[in-house]
Amino acid sequence: MSLFDLTGKIALITGSSRGIGKAIAGAMAMQGAKVVISSRKQDACDAVAAEINEKHGEGTAIAVAASISDKAALEELVRQTEAQLGPVDILVCNAASNPYYGPMEGISDEQFEKILSNNIISNHWLSQLVLPGMIERKDGAIVIISSIGGLKGSDSIGVYNISKAADFQLARNYAVEYGQHNIRTNCIAPGLIRTDFAKALWQNEEAEKRFNTQHPMRRMGLPEDIAGAAVFLGSRAGAYVNGQTIVVDGGSVI
Ligand SMILES: NC(=O)c1ccc[n+]([C@@H]2O[C@H](COP(=O)([O-])OP(=O)(O)OC[C@H]3O[C@@H](n4cnc5c(N)ncnc54)[C@H](OP(=O)(O)O)[C@@H]3O)[C@@H](O)[C@H]2O)c1
Repeated sequence: MSLFDLTGKIALITGSSRGIGKAIAGAMAMQGAKVVISSRKQDACDAVAAEINEKHGEGTAIAVAASISDKAALEELVRQTEAQLGPVDILVCNAASNPYYGPMEGISDEQFEKILSNNIISNHWLSQLVLPGMIERKDGAIVIISSIGGLKGSDSIGVYNISKAADFQLARNYAVEYGQHNIRTNCIAPGLIRTDFAKALWQNEEAEKRFNTQHPMRRMGLPEDIAGAAVFLGSRAGAYVNGQTIVVDGGSVI
């Protein structure tokens, strides 16, 4: 059997109606997992689930809308997943928010708190919802999509970067506390990926050209470039990787 096989596994991926989350859901489905597509918009999730079901067979994907800022909605998301598919084996905390661009002196308390809540605390909420089942089965993988921003300072997305750095530590701490139950918690830190989230950074042709010239691989990442690392961490191939951050950025931080 392939080390990357996910047959029989249930994977819940937040923010999977487009971008990186969608690519991860598609790649996990391709490895045999049943996947839960989730974002704030039920229609968008339905469309992606239908696409995956058409490609990988009816019943491979279900769609359940939930906002990561709403704890009750996340509880319902996990409840629906368990009712329709079974307990979660792989949790991918992918959705995140960045409502502010600019120096830190200009960020409102409300914006700061939203970033911390959506990008850190919601990952904790979701993890706590799936952990009891993982502990019972003595198996589980939690993957947090952080960012290389968490490795750097910034004069435009500083608070977002702070939240992504906190995710590295969140993963390390969960790794320490739950490793004894054979539950692995890790982060992926993508570089700049061509998605709606980073549109402001790649929409300008000149800026993109400049980025490409300075990048070791001379190109921006694509959502599919991140999916392999998530499959690795969710599968037997990653069975002894715990508390780590895998940088997937084509070498930009080096
Ligand atoms: N793109 C990059 O360059 C880059 C680099 C490093 C890290 N990342 C990280 O990668 C992750 C995914 O980003 P992406 O680039 O794939 O973004 P994207 O293409 O904009 O997709 C974001 C996904 O999250 C959902 N979402 C947004 N806000 C949500 C909320 N409050 N509750 C639930 N779902 C929500 C969106 O759907 P709805 O809007 O319909 O809810 C969508 O499905 C994020 O954690 C981001 O920080 C991205």
